[in-house]
Amino acid sequence: MTLKLGTAVLAYFLLPFAAGAAASDDAGFIFQGFQQSNLSLDGLATVTNNGLLRITNTTISQTGHAFYPNPINFKSTSNSSAFSFSTQFVFAIVPDLSGLTGTGMAFVIAPTRNLTKVPDSQFIGLFDNSTNGNQTNHVFAVELDTYQNQDFGDINDNHVGIDINSVISKVSMPASYKANNKNSFENLTLISGQQMQLWVEYDGMDRRIDVTLAPIAAAKPHTPLLSLRYDLSPILKQTMYVGFSAASSPLEIGTSHFILGWSFKMNGVEQAIDLSQLPKLPRFGHKKVSKFFTVGLPLICITFLLILISGVAYYLRRKWKFAEVLEEWELAYGPHRFKYKDLYIATKGFREQELLGEGGFGRVYKGVLPTNMVEVAVKKVSHRARQGMRAFIAEIVSIGRLRHRNLVPLLGYCRRKGELLLVYEFMSNGSLDRFLFNQPKRTLNWNQRFRVIKGVASALLHLHEEWEQVVIHRDVKASNVLLDGELNGRLGDFGLARLYDHGTLPQTTHVAGSFGYLAPEYSRTGRATTKTDVYAFGAFLLEVACGRRPIDPRAEPEESIILVDWVFLCWKEGDILQAVDQKLGAEYVKEEAELVLKLGLLCYHSEPNLRPSMRQVLLYLEGSVALPDLSSLAMRGSTVGFDVSTDKCFSHSVADYLLSDGR
Ligand SMILES: *[C@@H]1O[C@H](CO)[C@@H](O)[C@H](O)[C@H]1NC(C)=O
Ligand SMILES: *[C@@H]1O[C@H](CO)[C@@H](O)[C@H](O)[C@H]1NC(C)=O
Ligand SMILES: *[C@@H]1O[C@H](CO)[C@@H](O)[C@H](O)[C@H]1NC(C)=O
Ligand SMILES: *[C@@H]1O[C@H](CO)[C@@H](O)[C@H](O)[C@H]1NC(C)=O
Ligand SMILES: *[C@@H]1O[C@H](CO)[C@@H](O)[C@H](O)[C@H]1NC(C)=O
Ligand SMILES: *[C@@H]1O[C@H](CO)[C@@H](O)[C@H](O)[C@H]1NC(C)=O
Ligand SMILES: *[C@@H]1O[C@H](CO)[C@@H](O)[C@H](O)[C@H]1NC(C)=O
Repeated sequence: MTLKLGTAVLAYFLLPFAAGAAASDDAGFIFQGFQQSNLSLDGLATVTNNGLLRITNTTISQTGHAFYPNPINFKSTSNSSAFSFSTQFVFAIVPDLSGLTGTGMAFVIAPTRNLTKVPDSQFIGLFDNSTNGNQTNHVFAVELDTYQNQDFGDINDNHVGIDINSVISKVSMPASYKANNKNSFENLTLISGQQMQLWVEYDGMDRRIDVTLAPIAAAKPHTPLLSLRYDLSPILKQTMYVGFSAASSPLEIGTSHFILGWSFKMNGVEQAIDLSQLPKLPRFGHKKVSKFFTVGLPLICITFLLILISGVAYYLRRKWKFAEVLEEWELAYGPHRFKYKDLYIATKGFREQELLGEGGFGRVYKGVLPTNMVEVAVKKVSHRARQGMRAFIAEIVSIGRLRHRNLVPLLGYCRRKGELLLVYEFMSNGSLDRFLFNQPKRTLNWNQRFRVIKGVASALLHLHEEWEQVVIHRDVKASNVLLDGELNGRLGDFGLARLYDHGTLPQTTHVAGSFGYLAPEYSRTGRATTKTDVYAFGAFLLEVACGRRPIDPRAEPEESIILVDWVFLCWKEGDILQAVDQKLGAEYVKEEAELVLKLGLLCYHSEPNLRPSMRQVLLYLEGSVALPDLSSLAMRGSTVGFDVSTDKCFSHSVADYLLSDGR
């Protein structure tokens, strides 16, 4: 469309001219796109494929000129006064890189199309050192200057000026325009890649030159940017050439000068350019795209890489944080094996607020499993050795299958380097000792205590006799008995003492168990039997009935530091009930209390063979069998626990215990 119209219009204006001959007095033409415009081009000037007239491109240090091919009469033969003329053109000065200044361009009327080829950009392709300012030039130009040359008195690097025979402007103004509905001039940036319009009008009668600039979208402003009273008659010869001139920058940062449309009229008003018919400018800022590739893309790559690295680091950190030890043989225990990550989340990262307590084997944390929201207690046991671990895990898992209403269910385990985690069902009321010792906030009444005792006894019986293998608890004591929601006593920590046997705990020479609960033969030989559990159970019975720890350094003087001595003393004095927990007052069943205390002494017998079995203990507790008369049993000397001086091992242990500040 543009092409057709441009050609048609061109043809209309060209037809009257004979080639090479001067045009008539009212010559005029219009180009809306320059296809087949037959302009006279030199240097860098070229018409692009889509019809843009490009005066220069980014090739450095060259000039470009584009002239209307035919000379035009600016005067009649009879009169030396120059005619009026008017022209309008649409241009764009496109910087190579935005923000940089470049060279300018000019609309020019000259006596020759053969202007200087001297590529000195400050002369805009119009002059050179020798011709600049010479009266014989006969050159009129309107410069669109984007370079400030102090030598030529340029006002800035973005101005419009009227030049006569010299690049030193007769008058110039910063590039700006006064929109018709505004009162002041608005600045424009010539070298912005934006399309702009320029009008140059000479009134031959008034001898006035008006130059008007406007952005592409604006209507022609009524107020010109420059208005100079100047008689062009001596400057303009009778026939002149009209066209455009520019010089490219000597630096790599070139600019391209484009003309999109051009209309000229002698002795009249030029035909207005139809802006919609103009060819499109090449995509301005393709250098920006390459900047994207040179700067943006690597930056994006680096950012991406950083994200990737931090992602991998995060992943590895997580992996390390949640790392477990999982060996092939453990696959058989799949359901009993917990993910460390789940336990970590359950216990909120094993934080202090979730700590339930600290036992002989490690810290116990409360948690809620993320998978099924089940409340659990997680025991963290640090271990050292790998040998024995397999047997121990096998036993743990096997014990985990033990189900008894008075045992704390072991749900499973997890293994990490140097760390074993055991997952138990959570017991909402905590351990029994909190209800018995040291001015408890809440205490248990006798019935509750008796029920707990019977429960623990049946749990121990289950471990000793009713399970497929004999399980020795090794650490029966009040603090290992937990109370569930209904205050049922549940024995916890069973089997854990086997860690010592398997050599997985650091203090392998240490005898598992707690002071005051250790049977004398166990202290001597280190061999645990069901009878050593019964001995500890005896201590436990006394604890529950008396509300005291087996060894209490803070005990009143008349009540012996060693609980069993005190109970024994009371029994010998004939009033065993004197030992019953003061906190109960008179609120207890005398027969049951007496039974529990005497059974405690019996179980605590230093001679293992004289201790009852757990089955017998249960029969006594249920009242189906009467307790043997204590005085009939050989208590003298053999009742080591009662007589500290006769058993060096025990007394030694107690001494150690007392020296270690009563913990
Ligand atoms: C500039 O234009 C000239 C003439 O059309 C051409 O030979 C040259 O390759 C162009 N340079 C660039 C950088 O486009
Ligand atoms: C183009 O201009 C040249 C002179 O510059 C002339 O010789 C030629 O005939 C013109 N061609 C057309 C098609 O006008
Ligand atoms: C020359 O032309 C101008 C206007 O173009 C006119 O004012 C002037 O009188 C003319 N002079 C002569 C000698 O004809
Ligand atoms: C153009 O001008 C140069 C000197 O500036 C000259 O050497 C050359 O012959 C001229 N060319 C034409 C076609 O007039
Ligand atoms: C032009 O003249 C200036 C001084 O007037 C000089 O510095 C410069 O080198 C000259 N350039 C050329 C191309 O002769
Ligand atoms: C102006 O140019 C003419 C011819 O090119 C020359 O003879 C004259 O010396 C020049 N004048 C000046 C002041 O350079
Ligand atoms: C316009 O440009 C001139 C000179 O460059 C400057 O002094 C003036 O502050 C500018 N005005 C506005 C509105 O930016």
